[in-house]
Amino acid sequence: MLSIHSLKVGPLAVLYLAQSVLGGTPKSCSSTTTLSCHNTTTVADTCCFNYPGGSLLQTQFWDTDPAVGPSDSWTIHGLWPDHCDGTYDATCDSSRAYTNISAILKASGNADLLSYMETYWLPNDSTGEEFWEHEFGKHGTCVSTLAPKCFTNYKATDEVPYYFNTTVSLFKTLPTYKFLADAGITPSSTKTYKLADIQAALSKNHNGESVYIGCTSSAIEQVYYYYNVYGSVANGQFVPASPDNSESGGCPSTGVKYLPKSGGSTTPTSTTSTGTSPPTSTPTGSFSGKGYLNAVTGGSTKGCIISGGTWYTSGTCATFTAASSGSGFTLKSSKGYCSASSGSLTCASGVSAADAAVFAASGVNLANSNGNDWYADSVPSGSTQNTVYSAKGSHGTTLQIQWASV
Ligand SMILES: *[C@@H]1O[C@H](CO)[C@@H](O)[C@H](O)[C@H]1NC(C)=O
Ligand SMILES: *[C@@H]1O[C@H](CO)[C@@H](O)[C@H](O)[C@H]1NC(C)=O
Ligand SMILES: *[C@@H]1O[C@H](CO)[C@@H](O)[C@H](O)[C@H]1NC(C)=O
Ligand SMILES: *[C@@H]1O[C@H](CO)[C@@H](O)[C@H](O)[C@H]1NC(C)=O
Repeated sequence: MLSIHSLKVGPLAVLYLAQSVLGGTPKSCSSTTTLSCHNTTTVADTCCFNYPGGSLLQTQFWDTDPAVGPSDSWTIHGLWPDHCDGTYDATCDSSRAYTNISAILKASGNADLLSYMETYWLPNDSTGEEFWEHEFGKHGTCVSTLAPKCFTNYKATDEVPYYFNTTVSLFKTLPTYKFLADAGITPSSTKTYKLADIQAALSKNHNGESVYIGCTSSAIEQVYYYYNVYGSVANGQFVPASPDNSESGGCPSTGVKYLPKSGGSTTPTSTTSTGTSPPTSTPTGSFSGKGYLNAVTGGSTKGCIISGGTWYTSGTCATFTAASSGSGFTLKSSKGYCSASSGSLTCASGVSAADAAVFAASGVNLANSNGNDWYADSVPSGSTQNTVYSAKGSHGTTLQIQWASV
């Protein structure tokens, strides 16, 4: 239990206190818990021993068409508690199929985690929020160590930040793109690889354990890193493991493709007014030099910001110049400096260098005082340009604005 002394020992303790006061905390586990999937007798306390889902899989996507996430990173699919034999339970508690994951993370002081998820944990076919709801409802509710009874002073949703934080923390230790690049395996629309070389590059970074590699049409698109766990998923120790079943990922042994995210889509090259996205690049680099401001909504890039600061989905993206200024950077288009002071993004000759907004960023995302989300009344189509707002107000469409260096 939290002691009042925590109040006196500095900022970290206060942060911890803030979180604890807002919600319950996982009950502590003894330092000698049994490794999941490795018990030789019955273990009664499933708050400190993941059961029956003792295999925890950190699963990742390489989505090229449509491309999702930075071009030099895999993205998160989820964290799945499988039985120790490849079977699994799903949707274990419909009363905890929350439909407000973003709000839960914000309210529990995890806005940074949420903003990371907005770049690295996105689907190719719906919004981040819907994807996170699906992952938590289907898999998170089956993690025995995150059950309500495993918390002291539990109140609804207390377990949610732990599921997402642990998943993101694990993912950060598993930079698949780098693991492969270090072995000379990089995305290419022409080159192919041997499955054994891909396997070796990943296994080397997973304590020698095998990693599940999934292919579609001979192209790699998913990896699953298996773990067994001492203690709780909230704060336990994850031990690398090999897949506990013989499921094949469907990859051929040779001729495995690793397609680039940018080159994976078949954007029509003829002139068109059917609302096709302008030539977009996947987010890269940080806000400096020249780049496009891609508009991302529902996890997909849909158009970009054009020179006046409005959002457009069929045309040529404007090139912006980002220059460091104060604690952030200014943005300038051919029209002039950009500002967001009136609540909407505007770039115009009337904005002098002195009045230009100093923007902040979180990775490739352009930030405003509320975080990484920007808003519009709808996704523009055809030749319509929509105003982009920094506050939600009554604007029903959420987007992120992501830098793509050119
Ligand atoms: C491991 O623990 C679970 C949960 O208590 C139990 O059902 C299972 O039989 C145990 N396995 C072995 C080999 O004892
Ligand atoms: C999220 O929804 C749950 C009920 O499904 C509710 O108990 C909780 O208060 C909500 N949290 C926030 C931050 O809106
Ligand atoms: C989304 O990704 C899944 C899994 O990688 C893939 O099977 C599916 O075809 C993709 N959807 C689209 C619309 O590309
Ligand atoms: C998030 O997870 C990491 C790794 O397990 C841990 O060190 C950190 O304390 C966690 N943060 C919160 C707020 O639970």
